[in-house]
Amino acid sequence: MRTIVKLPGDGIGKIVLPEAIKLLNAVGFEAEYVHGDIGWEFWQKEGNALPQRTIDLLEKHKIALFGAITSKPKDAAARELDPALREEGYVYFSPIVGLRQHFNLDVCIRPCQSFEGNPLNFIRKTLTGYEEPHINTVIFRQNTEGLYSGVEWTNPPAEVREAFDTHPKMKKFANVPNEDLAISTRIVTRNACHRITKEAFEYADKFGYKSVTVCEKPNVLRETSGMMVEEARKVAKEYPHIDLWETNIDAQMMWLTKNPENYGVIVSENMFGDIVSDGFAGLVGGLGFACSANIGNEVAVFEPTHGSAPKYEKLDPPIVNPIAMFLSACMMLDHLGETGKANKIRNAIAEVIKEGKVRTYDMMKLRGGPDVFEKGACTTYEMTEAVIKKL
Ligand code: NAI
Ligand code: MG
Repeated sequence: MRTIVKLPGDGIGKIVLPEAIKLLNAVGFEAEYVHGDIGWEFWQKEGNALPQRTIDLLEKHKIALFGAITSKPKDAAARELDPALREEGYVYFSPIVGLRQHFNLDVCIRPCQSFEGNPLNFIRKTLTGYEEPHINTVIFRQNTEGLYSGVEWTNPPAEVREAFDTHPKMKKFANVPNEDLAISTRIVTRNACHRITKEAFEYADKFGYKSVTVCEKPNVLRETSGMMVEEARKVAKEYPHIDLWETNIDAQMMWLTKNPENYGVIVSENMFGDIVSDGFAGLVGGLGFACSANIGNEVAVFEPTHGSAPKYEKLDPPIVNPIAMFLSACMMLDHLGETGKANKIRNAIAEVIKEGKVRTYDMMKLRGGPDVFEKGACTTYEMTEAVIKKL
């Protein structure tokens, strides 16, 4: 039997992950789940939100379902550390970013598909009324490099400053004191650009998408975006039946509010992929529907894109929408070659949404709180039950 590492993490991650496992059991996916420690509690108690024992578990079993974690800025994190550990030099880092880096989970896939009948779907005004285009866009986000590489400084060391000063464009910063200078770098490698664009085309080919859009900004970011576009053009030659489109991130954000149904697969650097995928997710229901996969050569981690939503973690019964977590579990099934079971779950979700009888608070456009049930919203558990019933 297959072993899956379950990483509930913090807040609502602890609520939605067990619901997904109920569903996986109900669809007949045979697996054993082992728990991995991750998240805020372990930062506070051990000074490490991603303990080595959790890395070892993933090393061994390769596949994880992840809920969500709580991250806080450096200073706030330091204040919440166990007093006994405070002088030991621990620095907080986000454990999900840590997992992506450690296992080189460089391919992030974020499908954004609208379900018929979802009240949160994007609609467009026409001359005579409204229309609701069907959106089916899958974003491939380079997950380990680019603007999120983590190579950055405030008050850069002298040798860094000197190196930067060799660039002619640094002249305009010549009189800025070091302590008033902050630098975040955007580093990309040809290898990673190749891999992410190749994966995007492979996916488009496998699932019948007609276009791959490389969404960058090569007119301004000539070097990094330039390399991504260059690799995309090379890869595109191997797929003559799939169109390569090139858009700039800013224009893309406008177009997705006008004609989102035109886009199939989109491929971007880390930060641009983060931005464009949130944009598309907003058109198909937002955080309650946004699923993702982080895939490396050996290890893969599947997670909803939402965070731990701390303001809802204590509500009992819980109100949050588990569908993003369910769809992430479906991506895991796809990855494991269990597409039949994944489609069965997706169809069941589609039916529940289309019927419109069982809806979480977000689908009813309510403000979250304990009173959403009297306004007709279902609990997290009721949503799971409704989906299981349709299987
Ligand atoms: P969030 O995604 O946790 O919540 C933002 C809002 O979105 C919530 O208040 C709620 O209104 C809504 N929402 C989120 N998930 C929902 C669901 N399943 N159903 C219905 N509504 C939902 O983002 P926020 O508030 O910015 O961050 C909270 C914490 O989560 C922070 O500590 C942040 O660092 C962390 N975070 C973790 C992520 C991860 O684990 N991958 C991703 C994003 C944030
Ligand atoms: Mg994000």
